[in-house]
Amino acid sequence: MSGHSTYVPKSALARWFESRLPLVGFMYDSFVAYPTPRNLNYWWTFGAILSLMLVVQLITGIVLAMHYTPHVDLAFNSVEHIMRDVNWGWLLRYMHANGASMFFVAVYIHMLRGLYYGSYKAPREILWILGVVIFLLMMATAFMGYVLPWGQMSFWGATVITNLFSAIPYVGDAITTWLWGGYSVDNPTLNRFFSLHYLLPFMIAAVVVLHVWALHVVGQNNPAGVEVKNLARDTVAFTPYATMKDAFAMSAFLLFFCWFIFYVPNYLGHADNYILANPSTTPAHIVPEWYFLPFYAILRAIPSKLGGVIAMFGSIAVLAFLPWLDTSRVRSATYRPVFKVFFWAFTLCCVGLGYLGAMPAEGGYITAAQILTAFYFVFFLVILPLLGLFETPRPLPASIADDVLAKHGAH
Ligand code: HEM
Repeated sequence: MSGHSTYVPKSALARWFESRLPLVGFMYDSFVAYPTPRNLNYWWTFGAILSLMLVVQLITGIVLAMHYTPHVDLAFNSVEHIMRDVNWGWLLRYMHANGASMFFVAVYIHMLRGLYYGSYKAPREILWILGVVIFLLMMATAFMGYVLPWGQMSFWGATVITNLFSAIPYVGDAITTWLWGGYSVDNPTLNRFFSLHYLLPFMIAAVVVLHVWALHVVGQNNPAGVEVKNLARDTVAFTPYATMKDAFAMSAFLLFFCWFIFYVPNYLGHADNYILANPSTTPAHIVPEWYFLPFYAILRAIPSKLGGVIAMFGSIAVLAFLPWLDTSRVRSATYRPVFKVFFWAFTLCCVGLGYLGAMPAEGGYITAAQILTAFYFVFFLVILPLLGLFETPRPLPASIADDVLAKHGAH
Protein backbone atom coordinates (compact mmCIF):
# COMPACT_ATOMS: atom_id res chain seq x y z
CA MET A 1 0.00 0.00 0.00
CA SER A 2 1.16 3.50 -0.58
CA GLY A 3 1.12 6.45 1.81
CA HIS A 4 1.82 6.65 5.51
CA SER A 5 0.73 4.04 7.99
CA THR A 6 -2.29 4.76 10.17
CA TYR A 7 -0.84 2.50 12.87
CA VAL A 8 -0.03 4.24 16.15
CA PRO A 9 2.32 2.23 18.42
CA LYS A 10 0.95 2.22 21.96
CA SER A 11 4.00 1.45 24.10
CA ALA A 12 7.53 2.90 24.17
CA LEU A 13 8.93 -0.49 23.11
CA ALA A 14 6.52 -0.68 20.15
CA ARG A 15 7.49 2.87 19.11
CA TRP A 16 11.18 1.97 19.38
CA PHE A 17 10.69 -1.14 17.25
CA GLU A 18 8.41 0.56 14.71
CA SER A 19 10.88 3.36 13.99
CA ARG A 20 13.51 0.71 13.18
CA LEU A 21 11.40 -1.87 11.34
CA PRO A 22 7.79 -0.84 10.58
CA LEU A 23 6.59 -4.42 10.42
CA VAL A 24 3.62 -4.16 12.78
CA GLY A 25 2.46 -1.04 10.93
CA PHE A 26 2.73 -2.89 7.65
CA MET A 27 0.65 -5.80 8.95
CA TYR A 28 -1.84 -3.36 10.47
CA ASP A 29 -2.27 -1.53 7.17
CA SER A 30 -2.57 -4.77 5.20
CA PHE A 31 -4.82 -6.85 7.42
CA VAL A 32 -6.58 -4.54 9.87
CA ALA A 33 -7.22 -1.09 8.43
CA TYR A 34 -7.11 -2.27 4.80
CA PRO A 35 -10.23 -0.96 3.01
CA THR A 36 -12.29 -3.87 1.71
CA PRO A 37 -15.21 -3.46 -0.71
CA ARG A 38 -18.34 -3.79 1.41
CA ASN A 39 -20.17 -5.99 -1.10
CA LEU A 40 -17.76 -8.97 -1.18
CA ASN A 41 -19.54 -12.33 -1.12
CA TYR A 42 -18.28 -15.74 0.07
CA TRP A 43 -16.47 -16.42 -3.19
CA TRP A 44 -13.92 -13.87 -1.93
CA THR A 45 -13.01 -16.09 1.02
CA PHE A 46 -11.19 -18.65 -1.10
CA GLY A 47 -7.93 -16.70 -1.16
CA ALA A 48 -7.82 -17.03 2.63
CA ILE A 49 -8.82 -20.70 2.39
CA LEU A 50 -5.97 -21.27 -0.08
CA SER A 51 -3.50 -19.57 2.24
CA LEU A 52 -4.66 -21.86 5.05
CA MET A 53 -4.31 -24.96 2.86
CA LEU A 54 -0.81 -23.92 1.82
CA VAL A 55 0.20 -23.77 5.48
CA VAL A 56 -1.45 -27.15 6.17
CA GLN A 57 0.46 -28.72 3.25
CA LEU A 58 3.77 -27.18 4.33
CA ILE A 59 3.50 -28.31 7.96
CA THR A 60 2.24 -31.84 7.28
CA GLY A 61 4.75 -32.21 4.43
CA ILE A 62 7.74 -31.18 6.54
CA VAL A 63 6.83 -33.71 9.24
CA LEU A 64 6.14 -36.46 6.69
CA ALA A 65 9.59 -35.82 5.18
CA MET A 66 11.14 -36.63 8.57
CA HIS A 67 9.94 -40.22 8.21
CA TYR A 68 9.94 -40.73 4.45
CA THR A 69 12.87 -42.29 2.50
CA PRO A 70 13.34 -41.24 -1.15
CA HIS A 71 14.80 -44.48 -2.43
CA VAL A 72 13.11 -46.92 -4.80
CA ASP A 73 13.79 -49.85 -2.43
CA LEU A 74 12.50 -48.08 0.67
CA ALA A 75 9.99 -45.37 -0.33
CA PHE A 76 6.88 -47.58 -0.45
CA ASN A 77 7.67 -49.22 2.88
CA SER A 78 8.55 -45.90 4.49
CA VAL A 79 5.06 -44.64 3.64
CA GLU A 80 3.52 -47.80 5.17
CA HIS A 81 5.74 -47.22 8.19
CA ILE A 82 4.32 -43.69 8.48
CA MET A 83 0.79 -45.09 8.27
CA ARG A 84 1.31 -47.82 10.88
CA ASP A 85 4.18 -46.96 13.23
CA VAL A 86 4.69 -43.21 13.38
CA ASN A 87 2.53 -41.52 16.02
CA TRP A 88 -0.36 -39.84 14.19
CA GLY A 89 1.41 -40.70 10.95
CA TRP A 90 -1.82 -41.87 9.34
CA LEU A 91 -3.38 -38.50 10.11
CA LEU A 92 -0.43 -36.57 8.70
CA ARG A 93 -0.46 -38.59 5.51
CA TYR A 94 -4.23 -38.45 5.02
CA MET A 95 -4.19 -34.72 5.70
CA HIS A 96 -1.42 -34.18 3.17
CA ALA A 97 -2.89 -36.40 0.44
CA ASN A 98 -6.46 -35.10 0.82
CA GLY A 99 -5.10 -31.61 1.48
CA ALA A 100 -3.68 -31.59 -2.05
CA SER A 101 -7.15 -32.34 -3.43
CA MET A 102 -8.76 -29.69 -1.24
CA PHE A 103 -6.13 -27.21 -2.41
CA PHE A 104 -7.24 -27.82 -6.00
CA VAL A 105 -10.96 -27.65 -5.10
CA ALA A 106 -10.25 -24.22 -3.60
CA VAL A 107 -8.04 -23.02 -6.43
CA TYR A 108 -10.54 -23.98 -9.13
CA ILE A 109 -13.29 -22.11 -7.28
CA HIS A 110 -10.90 -19.15 -6.82
CA MET A 111 -10.06 -19.09 -10.53
CA LEU A 112 -13.67 -19.47 -11.67
CA ARG A 113 -14.61 -16.62 -9.31
CA GLY A 114 -11.96 -14.51 -11.06
CA LEU A 115 -13.35 -15.47 -14.45
CA TYR A 116 -16.97 -14.77 -13.48
CA TYR A 117 -16.28 -11.36 -11.97
CA GLY A 118 -13.61 -10.30 -14.47
CA SER A 119 -11.02 -9.94 -11.72
CA TYR A 120 -8.19 -10.32 -14.26
CA LYS A 121 -9.03 -7.08 -16.08
CA ALA A 122 -6.99 -3.89 -15.78
CA PRO A 123 -5.46 -3.02 -13.39
CA ARG A 124 -5.27 -6.62 -12.08
CA GLU A 125 -3.42 -8.30 -14.96
CA ILE A 126 -0.20 -8.93 -13.00
CA LEU A 127 -2.19 -10.22 -10.04
CA TRP A 128 -3.89 -12.72 -12.35
CA ILE A 129 -0.67 -13.77 -14.11
CA LEU A 130 0.98 -14.38 -10.75
CA GLY A 131 -2.02 -16.61 -10.05
CA VAL A 132 -1.37 -18.56 -13.25
CA VAL A 133 2.28 -18.99 -12.17
CA ILE A 134 1.09 -20.30 -8.79
CA PHE A 135 -1.26 -22.70 -10.56
CA LEU A 136 1.60 -24.07 -12.70
CA LEU A 137 3.80 -24.50 -9.63
CA MET A 138 0.94 -26.23 -7.81
CA MET A 139 0.48 -28.68 -10.65
CA ALA A 140 4.21 -29.47 -10.78
CA THR A 141 4.30 -29.93 -7.01
CA ALA A 142 1.26 -32.20 -6.93
CA PHE A 143 2.54 -34.29 -9.82
CA MET A 144 5.92 -34.89 -8.16
CA GLY A 145 4.33 -35.53 -4.77
CA TYR A 146 2.20 -38.30 -6.21
CA VAL A 147 5.35 -40.11 -7.39
CA LEU A 148 6.89 -40.26 -3.89
CA PRO A 149 4.91 -43.22 -2.41
CA TRP A 150 6.34 -45.26 -5.30
CA GLY A 151 3.15 -47.19 -5.95
CA GLN A 152 2.01 -48.43 -9.35
CA MET A 153 0.24 -45.17 -10.25
CA SER A 154 3.22 -43.16 -9.02
CA PHE A 155 5.56 -44.99 -11.32
CA TRP A 156 3.33 -45.24 -14.38
CA GLY A 157 1.95 -41.72 -14.04
CA ALA A 158 5.50 -40.40 -13.91
CA THR A 159 6.45 -42.56 -16.91
CA VAL A 160 3.53 -41.35 -19.05
CA ILE A 161 3.97 -37.67 -18.23
CA THR A 162 7.76 -37.49 -18.47
CA ASN A 163 7.55 -39.38 -21.78
CA LEU A 164 5.49 -36.51 -23.18
CA PHE A 165 8.68 -34.49 -23.47
CA SER A 166 10.03 -37.04 -25.94
CA ALA A 167 7.44 -35.69 -28.43
CA ILE A 168 9.49 -32.49 -28.80
CA PRO A 169 11.23 -32.70 -32.20
CA TYR A 170 14.99 -33.42 -32.27
CA VAL A 171 15.77 -32.78 -28.61
CA GLY A 172 12.81 -34.62 -27.00
CA ASP A 173 14.61 -37.86 -26.15
CA ALA A 174 17.62 -36.02 -24.75
CA ILE A 175 15.34 -33.88 -22.56
CA THR A 176 13.50 -36.94 -21.28
CA THR A 177 16.74 -38.74 -20.39
CA TRP A 178 17.91 -35.57 -18.65
CA LEU A 179 14.65 -35.32 -16.68
CA TRP A 180 14.88 -38.95 -15.60
CA GLY A 181 18.57 -38.82 -14.72
CA GLY A 182 18.87 -42.15 -16.54
CA TYR A 183 17.12 -44.24 -19.17
CA SER A 184 13.81 -44.71 -17.36
CA VAL A 185 11.95 -43.44 -14.30
CA ASP A 186 14.20 -44.79 -11.54
CA ASN A 187 15.99 -43.89 -8.32
CA PRO A 188 17.54 -40.62 -9.60
CA THR A 189 14.07 -39.55 -10.78
CA LEU A 190 12.56 -40.31 -7.38
CA ASN A 191 15.36 -38.39 -5.63
CA ARG A 192 15.02 -35.26 -7.71
CA PHE A 193 11.22 -35.34 -7.50
CA PHE A 194 11.51 -35.48 -3.72
CA SER A 195 13.95 -32.58 -3.70
CA LEU A 196 11.75 -30.46 -5.97
CA HIS A 197 8.56 -31.47 -4.19
CA TYR A 198 10.10 -30.08 -1.01
CA LEU A 199 11.36 -26.91 -2.73
CA LEU A 200 8.41 -25.83 -4.90
CA PRO A 201 5.89 -25.15 -2.09
CA PHE A 202 8.28 -22.52 -0.73
CA MET A 203 8.42 -20.97 -4.17
CA ILE A 204 4.61 -21.04 -4.22
CA ALA A 205 4.63 -19.25 -0.85
CA ALA A 206 6.97 -16.59 -2.29
CA VAL A 207 4.75 -16.06 -5.34
CA VAL A 208 1.70 -15.88 -3.05
CA VAL A 209 3.41 -12.99 -1.23
CA LEU A 210 3.79 -11.19 -4.59
CA HIS A 211 0.18 -12.12 -5.46
CA VAL A 212 -1.17 -10.56 -2.27
CA TRP A 213 1.17 -7.60 -2.65
CA ALA A 214 -0.17 -6.95 -6.16
CA LEU A 215 -3.68 -7.32 -4.77
CA HIS A 216 -3.02 -4.69 -2.12
CA VAL A 217 -1.59 -2.26 -4.65
CA VAL A 218 -4.63 -2.31 -6.96
CA GLY A 219 -7.27 -3.21 -4.37
CA GLN A 220 -9.86 -5.96 -4.53
CA ASN A 221 -12.38 -6.32 -7.29
CA ASN A 222 -15.94 -7.04 -6.09
CA PRO A 223 -19.20 -8.63 -7.32
CA ALA A 224 -20.37 -5.40 -8.96
CA GLY A 225 -17.05 -5.05 -10.79
CA VAL A 226 -16.96 -1.26 -10.34
CA GLU A 227 -13.98 0.39 -8.65
CA VAL A 228 -14.05 1.83 -5.15
CA LYS A 229 -14.89 5.53 -5.51
CA ASN A 230 -15.51 6.72 -1.99
CA LEU A 231 -13.62 4.92 0.80
CA ALA A 232 -16.15 5.80 3.47
CA ARG A 233 -19.21 4.70 1.48
CA ASP A 234 -17.81 1.79 -0.53
CA THR A 235 -15.49 -0.01 1.88
CA VAL A 236 -15.28 -1.46 5.38
CA ALA A 237 -12.14 -2.21 7.41
CA PHE A 238 -10.57 -5.62 6.73
CA THR A 239 -10.70 -6.37 10.46
CA PRO A 240 -13.15 -7.37 11.81
CA TYR A 241 -15.38 -7.70 8.71
CA ALA A 242 -13.27 -9.70 6.25
CA THR A 243 -11.25 -11.42 8.98
CA MET A 244 -14.37 -12.85 10.62
CA LYS A 245 -15.96 -13.86 7.33
CA ASP A 246 -12.72 -15.55 6.22
CA ALA A 247 -12.44 -17.33 9.59
CA PHE A 248 -15.98 -18.64 9.27
CA ALA A 249 -15.43 -19.82 5.68
CA MET A 250 -12.13 -21.47 6.63
CA SER A 251 -13.86 -23.36 9.45
CA ALA A 252 -16.59 -24.56 7.11
CA PHE A 253 -13.98 -25.63 4.57
CA LEU A 254 -12.02 -27.48 7.28
CA LEU A 255 -15.18 -29.47 8.12
CA PHE A 256 -15.47 -30.50 4.47
CA PHE A 257 -11.75 -31.42 4.53
CA CYS A 258 -12.20 -33.42 7.78
CA TRP A 259 -15.03 -35.38 6.25
CA PHE A 260 -12.62 -36.72 3.64
CA ILE A 261 -9.80 -37.36 6.13
CA PHE A 262 -11.90 -39.21 8.69
CA TYR A 263 -14.61 -40.91 6.63
CA VAL A 264 -13.33 -41.51 3.08
CA PRO A 265 -9.55 -40.91 3.19
CA ASN A 266 -8.85 -43.00 0.10
CA TYR A 267 -11.84 -41.95 -1.97
CA LEU A 268 -9.89 -39.45 -4.06
CA GLY A 269 -6.86 -41.73 -4.47
CA HIS A 270 -6.37 -44.77 -6.65
CA ALA A 271 -6.28 -48.32 -5.25
CA ASP A 272 -3.34 -49.24 -7.52
CA ASN A 273 -1.10 -46.88 -5.59
CA TYR A 274 -1.21 -49.34 -2.68
CA ILE A 275 0.70 -51.77 -4.94
CA LEU A 276 4.48 -51.38 -5.02
CA ALA A 277 5.76 -49.88 -8.30
CA ASN A 278 6.56 -52.59 -10.81
CA PRO A 279 8.24 -51.52 -14.06
CA SER A 280 7.29 -54.80 -15.77
CA THR A 281 3.50 -54.66 -15.13
CA THR A 282 1.48 -51.78 -16.58
CA PRO A 283 -1.85 -51.07 -14.78
CA ALA A 284 -5.00 -51.60 -16.88
CA HIS A 285 -5.84 -47.88 -16.81
CA ILE A 286 -3.32 -45.19 -15.99
CA VAL A 287 -5.29 -42.26 -14.63
CA PRO A 288 -3.98 -39.12 -12.97
CA GLU A 289 -5.47 -37.53 -9.87
CA TRP A 290 -8.93 -35.98 -10.44
CA TYR A 291 -7.59 -32.41 -10.65
CA PHE A 292 -5.49 -33.23 -13.71
CA LEU A 293 -8.26 -35.06 -15.58
CA PRO A 294 -9.50 -32.15 -17.77
CA PHE A 295 -5.96 -31.52 -19.00
CA TYR A 296 -5.39 -35.25 -19.48
CA ALA A 297 -8.54 -35.38 -21.63
CA ILE A 298 -7.21 -32.53 -23.80
CA LEU A 299 -3.88 -34.34 -24.14
CA ARG A 300 -5.54 -37.53 -25.37
CA ALA A 301 -8.11 -35.79 -27.58
CA ILE A 302 -5.48 -34.87 -30.17
CA PRO A 303 -4.43 -37.82 -32.33
CA SER A 304 -0.75 -36.83 -32.56
CA LYS A 305 1.44 -36.99 -29.46
CA LEU A 306 3.13 -33.65 -30.11
CA GLY A 307 -0.23 -32.03 -30.92
CA GLY A 308 -1.68 -33.38 -27.65
CA VAL A 309 1.24 -32.02 -25.64
CA ILE A 310 0.93 -28.59 -27.31
CA ALA A 311 -2.84 -28.52 -26.71
CA MET A 312 -2.42 -29.51 -23.06
CA PHE A 313 0.21 -26.88 -22.29
CA GLY A 314 -1.67 -24.40 -24.50
CA SER A 315 -4.83 -24.89 -22.44
CA ILE A 316 -2.94 -23.56 -19.40
CA ALA A 317 -0.87 -20.94 -21.23
CA VAL A 318 -4.01 -19.36 -22.70
CA LEU A 319 -5.06 -18.39 -19.17
CA ALA A 320 -2.14 -15.95 -18.94
CA PHE A 321 -3.52 -14.01 -21.93
CA LEU A 322 -7.05 -13.81 -20.56
CA PRO A 323 -6.78 -10.11 -19.56
CA TRP A 324 -6.26 -9.25 -23.24
CA LEU A 325 -8.51 -11.89 -24.81
CA ASP A 326 -11.57 -10.62 -22.97
CA THR A 327 -12.29 -7.34 -24.71
CA SER A 328 -15.33 -6.28 -22.69
CA ARG A 329 -14.88 -3.26 -20.47
CA VAL A 330 -17.51 -4.54 -18.06
CA ARG A 331 -15.99 -6.83 -15.44
CA SER A 332 -18.75 -8.64 -13.61
CA ALA A 333 -20.84 -11.35 -15.30
CA THR A 334 -23.79 -9.99 -13.32
CA TYR A 335 -24.02 -7.24 -15.95
CA ARG A 336 -23.02 -9.39 -18.95
CA PRO A 337 -26.04 -11.53 -19.91
CA VAL A 338 -24.40 -13.37 -22.81
CA PHE A 339 -21.04 -13.87 -21.14
CA LYS A 340 -22.85 -15.38 -18.16
CA VAL A 341 -24.29 -18.14 -20.35
CA PHE A 342 -20.88 -18.87 -21.86
CA PHE A 343 -19.27 -18.86 -18.42
CA TRP A 344 -21.55 -21.69 -17.31
CA ALA A 345 -21.04 -23.50 -20.60
CA PHE A 346 -17.29 -23.24 -20.07
CA THR A 347 -17.57 -24.53 -16.49
CA LEU A 348 -19.62 -27.50 -17.71
CA CYS A 349 -17.07 -28.05 -20.48
CA CYS A 350 -14.30 -28.36 -17.85
CA VAL A 351 -16.38 -30.80 -15.79
CA GLY A 352 -17.11 -32.80 -18.96
CA LEU A 353 -13.42 -32.90 -19.86
CA GLY A 354 -12.69 -34.09 -16.32
CA TYR A 355 -15.17 -36.95 -16.75
CA LEU A 356 -13.71 -37.90 -20.13
CA GLY A 357 -10.17 -37.80 -18.72
CA ALA A 358 -11.15 -40.67 -16.42
CA MET A 359 -12.67 -42.76 -19.25
CA PRO A 360 -10.69 -45.03 -21.58
CA ALA A 361 -9.38 -43.18 -24.67
CA GLU A 362 -11.56 -44.94 -27.23
CA GLY A 363 -14.57 -44.47 -29.54
CA GLY A 364 -17.19 -41.92 -28.53
CA TYR A 365 -15.16 -40.73 -25.56
CA ILE A 366 -12.46 -39.42 -27.89
CA THR A 367 -14.97 -37.65 -30.13
CA ALA A 368 -16.63 -36.04 -27.11
CA ALA A 369 -13.21 -34.95 -25.76
CA GLN A 370 -12.38 -33.43 -29.15
CA ILE A 371 -15.60 -31.42 -29.19
CA LEU A 372 -15.06 -30.15 -25.65
CA THR A 373 -11.39 -29.37 -26.31
CA ALA A 374 -12.44 -27.34 -29.35
CA PHE A 375 -14.99 -25.47 -27.21
CA TYR A 376 -12.37 -24.81 -24.51
CA PHE A 377 -10.14 -23.00 -26.99
CA VAL A 378 -12.98 -21.34 -28.91
CA PHE A 379 -14.22 -19.89 -25.62
CA PHE A 380 -10.91 -18.12 -24.98
CA LEU A 381 -9.76 -17.35 -28.51
CA VAL A 382 -13.03 -16.53 -30.30
CA ILE A 383 -15.97 -16.03 -27.94
CA LEU A 384 -14.27 -13.78 -25.37
CA PRO A 385 -12.68 -11.41 -27.90
CA LEU A 386 -15.92 -11.12 -29.91
CA LEU A 387 -18.35 -10.86 -26.99
CA GLY A 388 -16.74 -7.62 -25.88
CA LEU A 389 -17.62 -6.13 -29.25
CA PHE A 390 -21.16 -7.45 -29.67
CA GLU A 391 -22.66 -7.90 -26.22
CA THR A 392 -24.83 -5.15 -24.75
CA PRO A 393 -24.13 -5.05 -21.03
CA ARG A 394 -26.80 -4.21 -18.45
CA PRO A 395 -26.40 -0.79 -16.81
CA LEU A 396 -23.72 -0.76 -14.11
CA PRO A 397 -24.36 0.61 -10.62
CA ALA A 398 -22.80 4.05 -10.14
CA SER A 399 -20.84 2.82 -7.13
CA ILE A 400 -20.41 -0.14 -4.78
CA ALA A 401 -22.59 1.62 -2.20
CA ASP A 402 -25.37 2.09 -4.79
CA ASP A 403 -25.17 -1.60 -5.66
CA VAL A 404 -25.52 -2.63 -2.02
CA LEU A 405 -28.36 -0.19 -1.36
CA ALA A 406 -30.22 -1.21 -4.52
CA LYS A 407 -30.07 -4.87 -3.45
CA HIS A 408 -31.02 -4.38 0.17
CA GLY A 409 -33.53 -1.61 -0.26
CA ALA A 410 -32.12 0.75 2.42
CA HIS A 411 -31.93 4.37 1.31
C1 HEM B 1 -1.77 -20.87 -3.41
C2 HEM B 1 -2.68 -20.36 -4.22
C3 HEM B 1 -3.31 -19.01 -4.05
C4 HEM B 1 -3.42 -18.23 -2.91
C5 HEM B 1 -2.95 -18.56 -1.49
C6 HEM B 1 -4.13 -17.03 -3.30
C7 HEM B 1 -4.44 -16.01 -2.43
C8 HEM B 1 -5.27 -14.95 -2.73
C9 HEM B 1 -5.84 -14.04 -1.76
C10 HEM B 1 -5.61 -14.09 -0.24
C11 HEM B 1 -6.64 -13.17 -2.43
C12 HEM B 1 -7.53 -12.08 -1.84
C13 HEM B 1 -8.81 -12.71 -1.35
C14 HEM B 1 -9.70 -13.26 -2.45
O1 HEM B 1 -9.99 -12.52 -3.40
O2 HEM B 1 -10.08 -14.44 -2.37
C15 HEM B 1 -6.52 -13.49 -3.85
C16 HEM B 1 -7.13 -12.79 -4.87
C17 HEM B 1 -7.01 -13.09 -6.22
N1 HEM B 1 -6.43 -14.23 -6.75
FE1 HEM B 1 -5.41 -15.63 -5.71
N2 HEM B 1 -4.41 -17.08 -4.65
C18 HEM B 1 -3.93 -18.27 -5.14
C19 HEM B 1 -4.03 -18.71 -6.44
C20 HEM B 1 -4.58 -17.99 -7.49
C21 HEM B 1 -4.69 -18.44 -8.85
C22 HEM B 1 -4.22 -19.81 -9.33
C23 HEM B 1 -5.27 -17.44 -9.57
C24 HEM B 1 -5.61 -17.37 -11.04
C25 HEM B 1 -5.04 -18.04 -11.97
C26 HEM B 1 -5.55 -16.34 -8.67
C27 HEM B 1 -6.13 -15.14 -9.02
C28 HEM B 1 -6.55 -14.17 -8.12
C29 HEM B 1 -7.22 -12.93 -8.48
C30 HEM B 1 -7.56 -12.45 -9.90
C31 HEM B 1 -7.51 -12.26 -7.29
C32 HEM B 1 -8.21 -10.90 -7.14
C33 HEM B 1 -9.64 -11.19 -6.91
C34 HEM B 1 -10.48 -9.98 -6.73
O3 HEM B 1 -10.08 -9.04 -6.05
O4 HEM B 1 -11.56 -10.02 -7.31
N3 HEM B 1 -5.12 -16.72 -7.41
N4 HEM B 1 -5.70 -14.59 -4.00
